[in-house]
Amino acid sequence: MKQDLSKKLFAEAQTLVPGGVNSPVRAFRGVGGEPFFAQRGKGSRIWDVDGNEYIDYVCSWGPLILGHAPAAVVKGVAKAARDGLSFGIPNPHEVRLAKLVREAFPSIQKLRVVSSGTEAVMSAIRLARGFTGRSMIVKFEGCYHGHGDSMLVKAGSGALTFGQPDSGGVPAELAKLTLTVPFNNRVALEHMISIHRDAIAAVIVEPIPANAGLYLPKPGFLEFLRKTTAAQGIVLIFDEVITGFRVARGGVQELCGVRPDLTCLGKIIGGGLPVGAFGGHAHIMDQLAPLGPVYQAGTLSGNPVAMAAGVVTLETLLYGDPGLYKKLNDLTAELALGIAAAAKESGVPLAQNRIGSIFCNFFCDGPVTDYASAKRSDTKRFAKFFHAMLERGVYLAPSQFEVGFVSTAHTAADVEQTIRAAKEAFREL
Ligand SMILES: Cc1ncc(COP(=O)(O)O)c(C=O)c1O
Repeated sequence: MKQDLSKKLFAEAQTLVPGGVNSPVRAFRGVGGEPFFAQRGKGSRIWDVDGNEYIDYVCSWGPLILGHAPAAVVKGVAKAARDGLSFGIPNPHEVRLAKLVREAFPSIQKLRVVSSGTEAVMSAIRLARGFTGRSMIVKFEGCYHGHGDSMLVKAGSGALTFGQPDSGGVPAELAKLTLTVPFNNRVALEHMISIHRDAIAAVIVEPIPANAGLYLPKPGFLEFLRKTTAAQGIVLIFDEVITGFRVARGGVQELCGVRPDLTCLGKIIGGGLPVGAFGGHAHIMDQLAPLGPVYQAGTLSGNPVAMAAGVVTLETLLYGDPGLYKKLNDLTAELALGIAAAAKESGVPLAQNRIGSIFCNFFCDGPVTDYASAKRSDTKRFAKFFHAMLERGVYLAPSQFEVGFVSTAHTAADVEQTIRAAKEAFREL
């Protein structure tokens, strides 16, 4: 595969940008080699600057549930842009977006929009601290909640890929306020809460963790979180930055019926533009400035162009094809089953987890139920598989600890082509 232009750009980028990338996992360190540079995307496909074509299962790390450059979203963005790129005073798109989110998430009475998932989580944590007057936070090992200081403790995603679940530059005094427990472990959480009960402001969780690969909550675990936190006046935060509008319109909370106090959103709600949001009960949200004492702000928060992309995307998901999520689910199941069968044929041990249109292939025997079992994966074997797939025109996430996403633009033909590539790739391992 010719990658001359990508190589040239990456060499130049490395002299200008740390590691040549503006977000670490993009550097392909988890799989070796160098990243390609994207030129164009349409539907399920990306073309790189050298003209190579890939079926894309990264989907910009989750936002592109409608695929690349969907006509309706591009049209909405273009119209909003023509009307003005930014105002710094309220615009109608902000109200529309908040209404659409509230329609899908009954636990959200009020919503504040920011510009990334990281910002949403940082703000939600400050709000929980301000609301409770407490300072400690409990998170789960391997869950990733963006790169805010308090959240880079036993974190997943890039932090895990690079073996840096605890980041440099986070003061020990601050990290001490973040307590971690294994996911799916009730006893560990109860113990932690019994020691620090009056000091814990919030428990934050990815209700379906998707940043150390993918694994699912045990039956009753999320209900247990709700009951335990409510009993102690602890704010329960669901980080649905990945899962919101992805596993169902109303995220994991729609699937399990558990209502958190606060929810963090991002990715899909921006339709591919930089948007995050956090929301929940009005009596908590109204602690935010200008109504309350907890300060939070943003020059570009609620940017009209980004809001327009989000609004069209959410309208499509809420009022478009009623069978959309079922179709996504069925196509992803077909893909996962095909890959599993191909691995079996070649005698490659593969543990698969899947929910809706999110999938993960762990290169180990199953089951994978938490961070510890995810780490048993053979990351070298994954890297070989990744490159064998890329050479065959299939772009998977460049790390064992990231997941794959299917969009409404993916087709049965894409899935067939991917399974054919996987058969060949497994044979090469
Ligand atoms: C669950 C979760 N929370 C928060 C974030 C941070 O979002 P962003 O990268 O937009 O800052 C991510 C990013 O992948 C995420 O997966």
